[in-house]
Amino acid sequence: NNARESLYVVSLYAANYFANELWTGEHGRAIGLSYFRERGFREDIIKKFELGYSPDQWDALILSAKAAGHKEEYLERTGLSIRNDKGKVYDRFRGRVMFPIHNFTGRVIGFGGRTLKTDKNVPKYVNSPESDIYHKSNVLYGLFQAKKAIREFDNCYLVEGYADVLSVHQAGIENVVASSGTSLTVEQIRLIGRFTQNVTILYDGDAAGIKASLRGLDMILEEGLNVKVVNFPDGHDPDSYMHKVGAGAFKIYIENNRKDFILYKADILLKEAGTDPIKRAGIIRDIVESIAKIPDDIKASVFIRECSRLLQVEERMLLTELNKMKSARF
Ligand code: UTP
Ligand code: MN
Ligand code: MN
Ligand code: MN
Ligand code: MN
Repeated sequence: NNARESLYVVSLYAANYFANELWTGEHGRAIGLSYFRERGFREDIIKKFELGYSPDQWDALILSAKAAGHKEEYLERTGLSIRNDKGKVYDRFRGRVMFPIHNFTGRVIGFGGRTLKTDKNVPKYVNSPESDIYHKSNVLYGLFQAKKAIREFDNCYLVEGYADVLSVHQAGIENVVASSGTSLTVEQIRLIGRFTQNVTILYDGDAAGIKASLRGLDMILEEGLNVKVVNFPDGHDPDSYMHKVGAGAFKIYIENNRKDFILYKADILLKEAGTDPIKRAGIIRDIVESIAKIPDDIKASVFIRECSRLLQVEERMLLTELNKMKSARF
């Protein structure tokens, strides 16, 4: 439909405008491009992901877009501009490095903009709002650039942030996407499921990342996909770790630290429980709960066997527990 088409057109205009500012604008080069270089992003990656810079003015994009014949209405409906209570319209993204968000056919549908300031009171990322062309729960950042490699390697790496997608890609691992701006949704998992049945979670090595990975793996299991997890040393995310150790060591780290979900959960929970027998029993139940989410009974029974071996619990007991949980659902 026509209005939606206009939103795509103005979003593409904005992406080109921001990219042009980054590569040819005085401040874009001095501030934006320098920032990406200091973070260690290669030029080919900056170009491939069409990164940009939004000038630090109230109406730079608005003026440029209007001069090029775009209507204010469409800038507003994509959230690229904001109208305040007094009816004044201004740019949402100002003085930020820009990450355009594409749908999986490659059309620009939104943006994430990162601040260059270290001031804690400034939000680190500002994101486009939902619009008629941008439904956050259905979008994975980087999927357009990753989908060929996801099919080829029959696996999809899942990270938390924009920078993680870029850095993992730069390390030569191109089958990587992020659920940026939202926590992982069922729709996003189903979208991955169109390309592969195998997901590897690479979340941040902090408390929030671990919590999100436990929630994510249960959701992925429930959708019938296979899931593995790689943990990063505390305080590191895939981006910071890749730049710390280099591309080669990063790839080796991923290979050597890929754990299937049972081992991952057991490791985390056993660390928390120590030798307390009651807590250890809780862990067993917790893991069986994840296994109970797997729709395929044959797959589930394989994991029950693994769990039995790993935690030194009789398989029969685990199966009883599993069946209790499954029948409790009805
Ligand atoms: P992080 O806080 O882990 O940021 O949030 P990051 O991706 O490592 O950012 P860098 O490396 O400092 O640039 C993970 C993701 O959560 C979303 C963004 O998509 C971000 O990439 N986020 C985070 C927001 O939308 N807004 C925020 O203020 C912070
Ligand atoms: Mn819609
Ligand atoms: Mn984090
Ligand atoms: Mn992070
Ligand atoms: Mn980061």
